[in-house]
Amino acid sequence: MRISARAHPNIALVKYWGKRDSERNLPAVGSISITLGDLWTDMQLEAGTDADELKVNGEPRDDLLPRIARCLDRVLGEGRQSFSISSESNFPVAAGLASSASSFAATVVAAAGVSGREFDTDELANLAGRASGSAARSLYEGFVELENTDDRVAVRSIRDTQSWPLSVVVAITSAAPKSVGSGEAMEISRRTSPFYARWVDEQEEDLARARAAIAERDFMTLADTAEHNCLKMHSVMWSSRPPMVYWNAATLDCMRVVRELRADGVSAFFTIDAGPQVKAVCLPDEIDRVRDALSQVDGVEHIMTSGLGAGAHLVG
Ligand code: PMV
Repeated sequence: MRISARAHPNIALVKYWGKRDSERNLPAVGSISITLGDLWTDMQLEAGTDADELKVNGEPRDDLLPRIARCLDRVLGEGRQSFSISSESNFPVAAGLASSASSFAATVVAAAGVSGREFDTDELANLAGRASGSAARSLYEGFVELENTDDRVAVRSIRDTQSWPLSVVVAITSAAPKSVGSGEAMEISRRTSPFYARWVDEQEEDLARARAAIAERDFMTLADTAEHNCLKMHSVMWSSRPPMVYWNAATLDCMRVVRELRADGVSAFFTIDAGPQVKAVCLPDEIDRVRDALSQVDGVEHIMTSGLGAGAHLVG
């Protein structure tokens, strides 16, 4: 038996940083993201091996296997059969590009396909979220909000892809894997950053502004809210002990270029996750201008573009 699922990475416009329950991997704050349609991870499960094995883009990756295997256990139970697991992505993994989100979202959908059982999307989102908080959002299309409830997350699409088609230009400034993984880094921030409590307190305000801006298709309010929220999250990282600085010189230059474009009347804003890549969100007719400007920045190695896209689904 062979089953494949595809999931797209998502990028948060109002971000998740910190956990309220690390055992169950429940986030300390809600978040709002967009799902990126042109970037993808395909996860294929093939039964019939004696033990689980994992290949990522054709290379054996025993180091990544335990997290994927645990994610499969959560969907299929610990007595499940073993799989030859193969993951292919069309973007660099582990470089702050949410490859864990698309990988775990695709994993739970493929595992649900193997089980033959009916899972609702909310249940799959919670199972993916146990592996990676942001993965819960990749189950859904377009603009997605994740809310904390008592003991789980509630995730839903708050606007579809067609009704406000935004574009994203990703400037890759280093494809090297990140030094500290986001799970560990969040815990360090929660324990040590003097700004952490304030970050959590202010999140509701940012979520409300972003939610309203998305409902009204108010690009400038979304731009202002997303950049502010991103810089606050990085301030928490910078003020942690040890500090976590994911940026490089090109990251800063890209931020400046995006702000200059906006001052020039271009509808574009930046956001940055736990890595040095800059994601510029813009209106679709500005994409050439944003891509051209970012590709001229020293240190930008590669540019990718994407529109918004669908939630995780079975393929083939
Ligand atoms: O889901 P994780 O553990 O990879 O954490 C994601 C954290 C950020 O990407 C920095 C923010 C977010 O909300 O996606």
